[in-house]
Amino acid sequence: MSAMASLLFHLLCCLTVFWLLPLPSHSADPDPLQDFCVANLSASISVNGFPCKPASEVTSDDFFFDGFTQEGNTTNTFASFLTPGNVLSFPGLNTLGISMNRVDFAPGGINPPHSHPRASEVGVVIEGKLLVGFVTTNNVYYSKVLTAGHMFAIPRGLVHFQLNVGDGKALAYTAFNSHLPGAAIVPLNLFASSIPNEVLTKTFQVDADLINTIKSKFRP
Ligand code: GLV
Ligand code: MN
Repeated sequence: MSAMASLLFHLLCCLTVFWLLPLPSHSADPDPLQDFCVANLSASISVNGFPCKPASEVTSDDFFFDGFTQEGNTTNTFASFLTPGNVLSFPGLNTLGISMNRVDFAPGGINPPHSHPRASEVGVVIEGKLLVGFVTTNNVYYSKVLTAGHMFAIPRGLVHFQLNVGDGKALAYTAFNSHLPGAAIVPLNLFASSIPNEVLTKTFQVDADLINTIKSKFRP
């Protein structure tokens, strides 16, 4: 092989490696490597996910979850309650790349703007009337008012919300392609965290009094 051909060959190899390397970071939860891996949530070792409970100790109960049987208590700031069915509450989901939430709304209740860093979301309205909306990274807003039986989709990582616009309660179930989708709740991230006031006053172009007023709404 000539020197030039050899150089080109090596360049091609390097480019292929650089192209392949980032691929895992574009995928959702990785595929499981065994039938199941019921999470041992109290294991002392830390891995990407949770270590598996020994298969000999796994029982039928590990694959069932009754956490959605009760209506959530909506007496709170947002008049809504989200009951998570993710790996932390339902360890049988560990490594399966799926999870669900139950979301209850009092009249006027809101599931405030938030995003899921590790999953896209689909949801179905079971009861009531919900305004469901999301915003793209270009600030384009998509929304629809949904009633029982209607389904919605929220692309991964985009800020979205649900608002009860009906006269009574509303109920929705949501599902994710991650066993732990995570939720960055915009108002809490900004106003219930320790981000310095200077960052918030400069970001929103308002004075500190207004920032403190908003912060006071989220203090326990
Ligand atoms: C709804 O947006 C949810 O995250 O369950
Ligand atoms: Mn969501």
